[in-house]
Amino acid sequence: MTSRVVVTGKIPQAGLDVLVDAGITAQAWTNDVPISRTELLKMVSGADVLVTLLTEKIDAEVLNAAGAQLKAVCNVAVGYNNIDLAECSRRGIKVTNTPGVLTEATADIAMALILMVTRRLAEGERVIRGQTPWHWGMHYMLGAGIQQRRLGIIGMGAIGAATARRARAFGMTIAYTNRSMAGVALERELEMERMSLDDLLATSDVVSVHCPSNESTFHLIGAPQFARMKPTAYLINTARGPIVDENALVAALESGEIAGAGLDVFEHEPVVHSGLVRRDDVVLIPHLGSATLETRSAMAILAANNAVALAYGGEPLTPVS
Ligand code: GLV
Repeated sequence: MTSRVVVTGKIPQAGLDVLVDAGITAQAWTNDVPISRTELLKMVSGADVLVTLLTEKIDAEVLNAAGAQLKAVCNVAVGYNNIDLAECSRRGIKVTNTPGVLTEATADIAMALILMVTRRLAEGERVIRGQTPWHWGMHYMLGAGIQQRRLGIIGMGAIGAATARRARAFGMTIAYTNRSMAGVALERELEMERMSLDDLLATSDVVSVHCPSNESTFHLIGAPQFARMKPTAYLINTARGPIVDENALVAALESGEIAGAGLDVFEHEPVVHSGLVRRDDVVLIPHLGSATLETRSAMAILAANNAVALAYGGEPLTPVS
């Protein structure tokens, strides 16, 4: 009997094709709006393999609703903070993610946010769209140059490194903080040094978050961290919202402790803190890190290949642990 694969979110056709080509008729959610919790609990019932999106919280309740036969959860994302890993591992359920395929797209967005917030691009666009009277002036809407400025990267994984490469092309210098050393070759290539989080915060002109979201990184950037940053510094987050304490971020912006922020992710997505929405020194975009057609297709294909391997009792390409 073939495995029952349930795809809990709408994924690109290329991913569904991988399943069909492997002889799997998957049951898939086809609506662009994320599945409701009630529907999710119903849909997963009897599944052997789940293909999930980051909008679905996969916890004990969902695993129970699926049943004891569930053997794998294949997330269509590099981050997997939506999945209760400990619960999966306790039950012997394998978890996979989609690293690699979204590295460049996400680094593009990080670099775009750096440019947007330091050069006040969204604010400028609002002036034009709002038909606010303006004229060119030597002192009009001045931003901050990034050449010779330091980019501090928190989490030197593939996306952190790809962002650093882009920033160097724009004339920035790089520092990073990471649990382990990035490796001599990468340190040499990016001419960067590893430092403590505190030192990185105190010396960087732009701080960009690229670490995974888990218990140990929850509110990694909060009030004490903002207090260490330069008043001229900017915070960029393309990783996950809960890594940054949003209340503390709003307070830091309001008190002038930092100069601005560029955010692709939010603590309570899709809700965005009203204190951020009303500020001109913040650039806000709706979790677009991996949002290109090519990247989303590649993510779906990789997740589907993981699901096929696991459905047939093989080894997945990109297991989480
Ligand atoms: C996107 O946010 C991802 O984790 O893939």
